[in-house]
Amino acid sequence: MPTLVAPSILSADFGRLNEEITSIQSADWIHVDVMDGRFVPNITIGPLIVEAARRASQALAAPLPLDVHLMIVEPDRYLADFRKAGADVLTVHAEACVHLDRTVQYLHQLGAKAGVSLNPHTPENVLDYVLDELDVVLCMTVNPGFGGQSLIERVFPKIEKIRREIERRGLKTLVEVDGGVKPDNARRFRDAGAHVMVAGSAVFGAKDRAGAITAIREA
Ligand code: DX5
Ligand code: ZN
Repeated sequence: MPTLVAPSILSADFGRLNEEITSIQSADWIHVDVMDGRFVPNITIGPLIVEAARRASQALAAPLPLDVHLMIVEPDRYLADFRKAGADVLTVHAEACVHLDRTVQYLHQLGAKAGVSLNPHTPENVLDYVLDELDVVLCMTVNPGFGGQSLIERVFPKIEKIRREIERRGLKTLVEVDGGVKPDNARRFRDAGAHVMVAGSAVFGAKDRAGAITAIREA
């Protein structure tokens, strides 16, 4: 399967969201980073902006799915709102869910693709008993909270382990990586097993955004 590229609008200019989304229309997914100032030390966006991003995406010749990454505590309280706002993939953090299995079931009930994210230090085996139910495993390769950080090398073996386990079980679950992905290291992420590459600063900071997307996809 070809690598999917998911530019993170965290690095976009929110005053020009429509143009910013149009500028990345050659991507595969639109990644939306939701932060609450509690799970992570930063506050970003809520369902209203997700709705605006959905409208911008629907105005494209080929609308892109919204990949909403919730870095928030007690995500269950807001899942229906984000789904209603237009999230196609909804990803919660394992560390933020006391009853992760219940949360994943709820995501399915809402008709969303169910994603679970792991912080860099969180071992992959927390997913052992829920992996079969997941559409996406999002492997953080920086400590979540900010764009533009450099990747934590120590996470590569974990990406490999997750991909191997998905294949061993014969699942269709996608492995997504998030943090510090650039055209010049995308190949390493792909070789480690990533199907989906999130890239914020590497895409929105590039003069040629379509070129950056292609470079990451084809690395
Ligand atoms: C980090 C976010 C990322 C971030 C990636 O907390 O989850 O999606 O925007 O940004 P870059 O690609 O700049 O590392
Ligand atoms: Zn993210």
